[in-house]
Amino acid sequence: MWKGRFKEATSSLLTQYGESVSFDWRLYRQDIAGSCAHARALEREGIIDGKELEQIVAGLEAIEREITCGEFEFDIQLEDIHMNIEAELTRRIGDAGAKLHTARSRNDQVALDLRLYCREQTELITGKLRRMQGALVNCGEKFRDAVLPGYTHLQRGQPVLFAHHLLAYVEMLERDAGRLEDARERINVMPLGSGALAGSTIALDRGFIAEQLGFKTVSENSMDAVSDRDFVAEFLFNLAMIGTHLSRLSEDMILWCSSEFGFVTLDDAHTTGSSLMPQKKNPDIAELTRGKSGRLYGNLMSMMTTLKGLPMTYNRDLQEDKQPLFDSIDTASAALEIFAEMIAGMQVNEATTRKACSDPMLFATDIADYLVKKGVPFRAAHEIVGKLTAHCLEKNTTFPEIELDTYREFSGQFDESVFSLLEIDSALAARSAAGAPSPENVKARLTYWAGKLQGI
Ligand code: ARG
Repeated sequence: MWKGRFKEATSSLLTQYGESVSFDWRLYRQDIAGSCAHARALEREGIIDGKELEQIVAGLEAIEREITCGEFEFDIQLEDIHMNIEAELTRRIGDAGAKLHTARSRNDQVALDLRLYCREQTELITGKLRRMQGALVNCGEKFRDAVLPGYTHLQRGQPVLFAHHLLAYVEMLERDAGRLEDARERINVMPLGSGALAGSTIALDRGFIAEQLGFKTVSENSMDAVSDRDFVAEFLFNLAMIGTHLSRLSEDMILWCSSEFGFVTLDDAHTTGSSLMPQKKNPDIAELTRGKSGRLYGNLMSMMTTLKGLPMTYNRDLQEDKQPLFDSIDTASAALEIFAEMIAGMQVNEATTRKACSDPMLFATDIADYLVKKGVPFRAAHEIVGKLTAHCLEKNTTFPEIELDTYREFSGQFDESVFSLLEIDSALAARSAAGAPSPENVKARLTYWAGKLQGI
């Protein structure tokens, strides 16, 4: 492509080192869509005629079909997907193909392709987020009555419904989808026409190109447009955040599957055994996902570090944007997909979770709230119940077993009704503030999500 200026052939080491077609071939559909739109703008400007436009479009479409069927042979001598396609087109149709790169550089071409790619992936990942949310909501509905101790510091805190815990993840994934949607605004800007860095003396109708490709706006600064990859970094952050959420859920699942907790059972299809210990049934999907979240963070860091301190404008360093991006997309997509399937096959061991909720200490806050309702300041109530707890631990007893007289030694406000607090179902029903896990609230939220996700 640049033979005019060079006398010596490229070192074969450099050919290997610099090629990107082995991974950026993935951009072929975007590259071809961009080239077709560009060709139409060239025709409008009179750079090519109608016949040449037809040859270009038909030629590109044929190449696209061949790549899709795996029949196209890529050549690393041609470096990247852009040059592979253009060279093959020119080989097939001659001069018309050689005119395609008028008023365009690979710098604005690759920026365009990446934006188209990220825009499409935004949609695909969002679809997977929705399916994952759907799996959580279904599971919540299936085990709507299951209770669960809620933990802080991994110490039993207060009772919740199992579905409330799952719905927490539905909310997280909703914010992930929202972030992807917000970022789409910044992805959806058309950079072609920025040339290598300073646009072109052959002014094409950029709005026309944008319109053909479904872009809302065109970029306003050619130097920014060819060197900006913050949309990639943002996308990588959004995928990393999905990784964070999935890895937290993974950790919950791993704990819940352990003999110590025994709260859930995964089906055989989504667990593995041990080659040595015959009794093992391991939650590998959750562990792998927890592990793979590290890859998602690494890819984000890799992109940020590549961008840091890059002088304006395009530098070849930017070619390093693609592998992290592709890897994060593959990793997050696969994780969401398999997680949704695993959740669908998960059983909640309701008797075990209920037993875990029979720990009377879970009701300590409820007893303090009870005193507050009788006029005791919360701080004083907290201390009274703290002393009661210490008493229980000392005497090896629990709240339901203490006599009313003993309660009254700690506070005169206690009466018979304290015992009605010490029961999981009433304790849950009492948690009726907005966002709290009363069965009524949780049911309403499950219904809300089921309706919302169905419409998507
Ligand atoms: N393969 C290159 C990349 O991904 C395309 C742009 C090349 N531009 C250049 N001036 N060498 O960044």
